[in-house]
Amino acid sequence: MISMAEKLDPWASDIRVKDYGKLEKEFGIEPIETVLAKIPGPLIYMRRGMMFGHRDFGRILDAMAKKKPFVMMTGLMPSGKFHLGHKMLADEIVYLQEHGAKVYLCVADIEAYNTRGISLEEGRKTALEEYLLNYIALGLKPKNCDFYFQSSRSADAEKANAYYRLVGMCSKKVTFSEMTAVYGELTPGKIMSVFTQVADILHPQLPEFEGKLPVVVPVGADQDPHIRLTRDIASRFSEFNFIPPAATYNKFLPGLKGGKMSSSDPLSYIALSDDPKTAKHKIMKYAFSGGGNSVEEHRRHGGNTEVDVSYQMLYNMFEPDDRKMKKIKDDYTSGRMLSGELKQILADKLESFLSSHQKAREKARKEVAKFL
Ligand code: TRP
Repeated sequence: MISMAEKLDPWASDIRVKDYGKLEKEFGIEPIETVLAKIPGPLIYMRRGMMFGHRDFGRILDAMAKKKPFVMMTGLMPSGKFHLGHKMLADEIVYLQEHGAKVYLCVADIEAYNTRGISLEEGRKTALEEYLLNYIALGLKPKNCDFYFQSSRSADAEKANAYYRLVGMCSKKVTFSEMTAVYGELTPGKIMSVFTQVADILHPQLPEFEGKLPVVVPVGADQDPHIRLTRDIASRFSEFNFIPPAATYNKFLPGLKGGKMSSSDPLSYIALSDDPKTAKHKIMKYAFSGGGNSVEEHRRHGGNTEVDVSYQMLYNMFEPDDRKMKKIKDDYTSGRMLSGELKQILADKLESFLSSHQKAREKARKEVAKFL
């Protein structure tokens, strides 16, 4: 049954989940630890806790291990700049593609139009310039990748019809009070977006696409209401024999000043198109520090890694080597390493990542057409 408990609002502009453990207890998201040992060559996000939970991911790992077909399906909201928070999900998509997934990547341009007033034209431009280019530069390949727009599913009429038919049919599988229990206050635009997203997630299993097979949906924690609803709707379709979609859940990467990394505040994020020198400057100047108020105090009490944004970025993204990470932690918490020195480590890594990424991004321009 659909839970009536806490409301996670997938359309909120300031999503901040205070207690990820609560999502596990209340909604039945499983801790990632239950499958971690079975994940081949896990990404840093999987090992260090940014990916904190899942539903049925074991089924996907089985398919992976047995080299059976499976789909990775997810969607992107075409608004704002592509920043480090988005990179996390992009790396996962690439990881799953490299491990055998057929990729279905949806541009949620109808959702952006309905819930954020973004024109289809603007959404398309952002999707290609910001998202697709960065995905390609991060390793996404055109082979085994179906990149599409909610507003224009496919040039193949049979496929397009099957997708839009499913959007229409989903509305029959849920009551209005179930929907308000999941989402709170709704608008016609949100309702349309919900059914479109449910169809996004379920349509790979239609006979016109892959047929019945395991599908995993990697998302940010705020998207769980959609996943829960989709899994319920999947089980109510007598017309199709859907496997309930699996999901993996990411925490939000903290913004530079603490709080959220938000596209609406340029000083909260590092965009992948930020000039490397500017990015370095943003870290040195704005990244929230857990260091002492004076050098003397810092030497005595050390830094607080829990709140230090530079530390968090190294830990969650830029320093995969466990031994180096431990040394940084020891040095910083003991006060041997100063806040400025910690920032410098991150700033250098970031600068070199951004310069090579931006070269890859320029090369990626030639590849875009292969995805359309
Ligand atoms: N609602 C998602 C967001 O706000 C975008 C989205 C659309 C999506 N369709 C999807 C996500 C299917 C996962 C699966 O980012």
